[in-house]
Parts: sequence; structure tokens; C-alpha cells
Amino acid sequence: MTDVVRVGMIGAGGIARTHTANLQGFGGVRIAAVMDPALERAEALAAECGARAFEDLDAVLEGVDVVYVCSPPTFHRAQVEAVAAAGTHVYLEKPIATTLEGGRAIVAALSASPGRSMVGFNNRFRPAFRRWRELIRGGELGSALAAWILRMAPSTPTPNANWRTTPGLLCGITIESASHDIDLVRWALGEIGSVSGSTASSRPELEGFDDTLSAVLRVEGGPAVTFSVSWASAISTSSRGFVGTGGGAMLVGPDMWTVTELRWARSGQPETVEPIDPAEGADLGYRAASEHFIACIREGRDPVVTVHDGLAALEVSLACSPRQPAEARTCTSLTSGSGQQIWMLERRLSARRRPVRSGALPGSSPCGRSADAPRAGPGGQPRRR
Ligand SMILES: NC(=O)c1ccc[n+]([C@@H]2O[C@H](COP(=O)([O-])OP(=O)(O)OC[C@H]3O[C@@H](n4cnc5c(N)ncnc54)[C@H](O)[C@@H]3O)[C@@H](O)[C@H]2O)c1
Repeated sequence: MTDVVRVGMIGAGGIARTHTANLQGFGGVRIAAVMDPALERAEALAAECGARAFEDLDAVLEGVDVVYVCSPPTFHRAQVEAVAAAGTHVYLEKPIATTLEGGRAIVAALSASPGRSMVGFNNRFRPAFRRWRELIRGGELGSALAAWILRMAPSTPTPNANWRTTPGLLCGITIESASHDIDLVRWALGEIGSVSGSTASSRPELEGFDDTLSAVLRVEGGPAVTFSVSWASAISTSSRGFVGTGGGAMLVGPDMWTVTELRWARSGQPETVEPIDPAEGADLGYRAASEHFIACIREGRDPVVTVHDGLAALEVSLACSPRQPAEARTCTSLTSGSGQQIWMLERRLSARRRPVRSGALPGSSPCGRSADAPRAGPGGQPRRR
């Protein structure tokens, strides 16, 4: 690898623009290529960062050290397999794939590649989220009794507005956006052993699309986590909370992504409300995630968010999703009064998944802030998912 890390962007949409803007601010990193089958999109982004534009992935791989896979998830498998075969490092956006077969193929390809890889679970790099996790894992709030994730906003795109509602490309909130929340549960609380859930769609004309997930995730040896995630809500809000035998902690925000305060208390003690600086609360951790990834490439170490984390999140999503093949789940299809399809299922996840890495950042301990914890920076504001 040359002194300058040469990056290729695969896909020139919202998240690629965010990553490009962040990477351009790093010393010793150059966006060398942008690839998008909509060549005009690749050309527009490439022109902004002095890169070359391509329609074809193979041409990109000839001149880069690192690839950011920012295409719709349907394409991730074939693209990652090509990148892995070339031995190129890869930052892979979530969800890693839309099917178990695709996810497993991605894990196999990356495991066989000399290149390093990371999955874009950027929430792990947000200081407020790290603090929430430290409170939980540090033990001062006691043993876990319950936890919850509530995250909603009016953000279902109109049909065919982009890949999210385009037949053949769509995968729904349960596979896409909820992967962030599933990863957060695994990272903060532990491995998920079973799940029962119900998905619904405000766009029943879109087959295989869901924009609302209600679920209970059971952490192995830990609490049940209630889950309510929707793009179809007229109300925007979020909270992520923990109830322990010795106290509780909750991140609160006005929309699906922003966090404004961390509230926590030990049992019987007054509540502490820690306001989160607006710049930090709106920063989604993308910049810090890329800083970590590029540092790992330079220093020859493995990123803390692995493709196994991506596959674990996908397994949980698929256990809840109407896209899971009927033969692979215990499932009842109900029709609600409004004519929407609601899928109910109870599914035990396989017990053979890899354990969650403890102390998810190098040098971190369950109750201490890591010395080399990524710093939040002025990240871009992509379309938030
Ligand atoms: N980590 C996060 O918080 C986050 C946020 C947004 C999106 N994402 C993920 O990033 C990926 C892209 O989402 P987006 O919001 O940028 O979508 P987008 O619609 O804004 O952009 C997608 C781009 O991919 C291009 N494209 C289509 N087919 C392609 C192919 N075969 N190869 C390369 N490019 C192709 C499209 O032309 C478009 O320019 C998805 O996996 C999504 O879930 C992650």
C-alpha cells in the first residue's frame, strides 16, 4: 500500500457522499474512484473529490487500497466477493445482505481474503451511546431486568422513489434500519437467543416490504428487549433504555437518530440528566467509524465491528422478517382490519453464533472509557436510516 490510502466508493448515493466528505478531511486519504451504474451520479461525486468515475467495479479495483461498499444491499454479495478476491480492504455498509445465504457467502469471502473488513454500525462510535453502554456494562445499575428500543419517524419513501421501495431491490426496515438497533442490543447487552416479532407495512402493494417492526428480543442469560421501530409513524421520537436491579439509563431523542439527553439513576437516588451537546447528539458516528477503519488499515489491525456482527444482525432481522422463507420459521400470517399483512413468528436463533466481542473497542473495559476511543467529529448528514 502506498503512503496515501486510495479509496474507491461503490455507489454514489447518500451514504457514499457522507463517507466521501469525511474521508476527504483525513490526512493521507484520497478518494481515487467512484463507481455507480448511474454514471452521471458517479461522475458528479467524482468531480467533487477529484476522483475518476466508473460504471464497472473491476476497473475500480485496479487502483485502490480500500473500497467502501455503499450500494443497495442486494448487490453487496457479488461486490464483496469481487473485492475480497482482489484482497482489497472493505468497509461494508449495513445490512450486509438481504438473505442468509448472501450473508454467509460474504462472511466466507471476507474470511478467505487478506484484506480487512468492517461493517457500518456507526452507532457504536457515538460518545453518548458508548456512555450508555458503559453504564449498563459497568455494573453500577445492577443486573438487567429489561431494555427497550423505540425509534420512529415518517420516512417511508414513496414507491420507486429509490431502492428502498423499488421491487427487486427493497428489503424493508426490519432488514435495513433495524439492523442498527439489533447491533446495539448485541453490543450493549449480549447475544440474542430468540425473537418473537410482528412486521407491518403501510405500503401493502410493495411485496416483501415492511416499514414497521414490533418485536421482543431475548438476550441469552439477559433481559427481554422490547423493540418498536417504524418509518411509518407520523410522530418522530426515539428512546433506548435499560432497567436494572440497581438503576436505569435511557438515551432520549426527538427523532429516529438524534439524541439530546442521557438520563440515568441508581435505585433510590435522584436522577441525573446529562444534556448531550447538539453537535454531538446529531453526529451519527460516521466520521469516527471511518477514522477507526482507516487507522486499522494503516496499523494492520482488525476493526472492532466485524462481518460476523453484520451476519448476526441479519439473522435476527430475518427471524422477524416477512422475507424469511416460510419453511424456515414458525409463522402465522394474519390480515389486520386495515388489510395489511402482519406476520407473527416465534423463532429460536441458532446457538452456534460467535459471541459478541466484549469491550468492543480496543483497550476498553466494561466500565472504563477506552484510551483510544474514537472521537466524534462533524459528520455529514446523509439520508438517515
Ligand atoms: N450506516 C448508516 O447509517 C447508513 C445510512 C444510509 C444508508 N446506509 C446503507 O448504505 C447503502 C446505500 O444506501 P443509500 O442511502 O446511500 O442509498 P441511495 O439510494 O442514496 O444511493 C444508492 C446508490 O447506489 C447506486 N447503485 C445502484 N445499483 C448499484 C450497483 N449495482 N453498484 C453500485 N452502485 C449502485 C445508485 O445509483 C445510487 O447512487 C444501503 O446498504 C443502506 O442501508 C447506511
